Amino acid sequence: MDTRSGGIKSALVERLTEARERTRWLLRTVSDEDLALQHDPIMSPLIWDYGHIGNYEELWLLEKAFGKGLSNRDLYDIYDASLHPREERPSLNLLDREGADVYLDAVREAVLRAVEAADLAREDPLLKAGFVYHMILQHECQHNETMLQTLQLMRGEGYRPQSMVELPEGNPTDEMAHVEGGTFIMGTDDRAWALDNERDAHEVDVEGFYLDRTPVTNRAYLGFLEDGGYEREDLWSSEGWAWIQSQRISAPKHWYQREPHSWWTERFGFDEPLSMDAPVVHVSFYEADAYARWAGKRLPTEAEWEKAASWDPKTGTKRLFPWGDEPPTPEKANLDQLAFMPAEVGAYPAGASAYGVLGMIGDLWEWTASDFAAYPGFESFPYREYSEVFFGPDYKVLRGGSWATRPDAIRNTFRNWDYPIRRQLFVGFRCAK
Ligand code: AVJ
Ligand code: FE
Repeated sequence: MDTRSGGIKSALVERLTEARERTRWLLRTVSDEDLALQHDPIMSPLIWDYGHIGNYEELWLLEKAFGKGLSNRDLYDIYDASLHPREERPSLNLLDREGADVYLDAVREAVLRAVEAADLAREDPLLKAGFVYHMILQHECQHNETMLQTLQLMRGEGYRPQSMVELPEGNPTDEMAHVEGGTFIMGTDDRAWALDNERDAHEVDVEGFYLDRTPVTNRAYLGFLEDGGYEREDLWSSEGWAWIQSQRISAPKHWYQREPHSWWTERFGFDEPLSMDAPVVHVSFYEADAYARWAGKRLPTEAEWEKAASWDPKTGTKRLFPWGDEPPTPEKANLDQLAFMPAEVGAYPAGASAYGVLGMIGDLWEWTASDFAAYPGFESFPYREYSEVFFGPDYKVLRGGSWATRPDAIRNTFRNWDYPIRRQLFVGFRCAK
């Protein structure tokens, strides 16, 4: 018996078990009614996400990897994201909480039996290096974050998760770090954890630039707002201006004013005064872009962001995380749904990149100036609907992950994307020059 593969298997099983515990923990205090409701037209009912997590595992880990489908085709239809746009999902014949609990347990039991019998060295691209397990794990993590976005949009009683960590104090700075011009390696050739859109690794020549050492704070953003930022057409792209006019947008999502100059925000259904040293969140790409113009700066491109996060100019090598290759810890980054909010900026000096840029992983996603596009050598794997169908000018790339991102689902090469009008994400930005 190969004890090494036995060890790898038990580590995988442990991770899958832990991911499921987290999913259930996040939903445990949500009422059955709130699970079934669609809290916002751009989100699924939470109970759809829950069933979909199980069905995705059945599809990829049982059917595709081991040829062992379990359930009737109806479930594959109901939980196929590309067959049903979000507005249709509430009217589907979804499993309720108990039904989904039973279904997810049945899938998981079959998965554990299949893992037991699996040959990890099999020359199947899905199974090789454990890819399909890692894809399933990351998928569950990604839907955890989606569920938290939905919970942030939920009206009514509110969702009061208990914070599991005490956040370190911030250290805001207006400084920018300099990143010298020259080539670096963007993307990765990893086939164990990386998703298709992160490949291939390729050389990119970046001109020298400056990048904010910390994300834009609520204080700085308020300066833009109070300087008439939302009223000055010259600061906005034409699409952005048309969008704020038609939607009557004059502040980040969830901001409101109690009295002049007293700004509050609603977080998970509860009101709190805006924390001035915390990063601005729930802004669209268009708002980030207008702020940058106001500040005499611009948003970084995706390549600039990745170079500043990952490149070590002394050794000419690439790091998996800004601080190095070691996995995230609470001393280095605010990740893993522990705090339920971003820390004040500059709170993680131990998480600095080689260029001294802070907070690149965790706290909040960051808008980049780049459209979501294929890297040279891209091949869709294992299915076109993960990334390929989204390539093009409609989507902007987001980098870095948020407090709601689980560590298995983030690294310097990870690419997220959304429409430039979207604000439900835990997203802010930093500027370049
Ligand atoms: C990468 C976050 C844009 O949630 O739409 C989940 C991830 N893909 N299920 C999304 C995903 C399939 C995806 N994002
Ligand atoms: Fe999904």
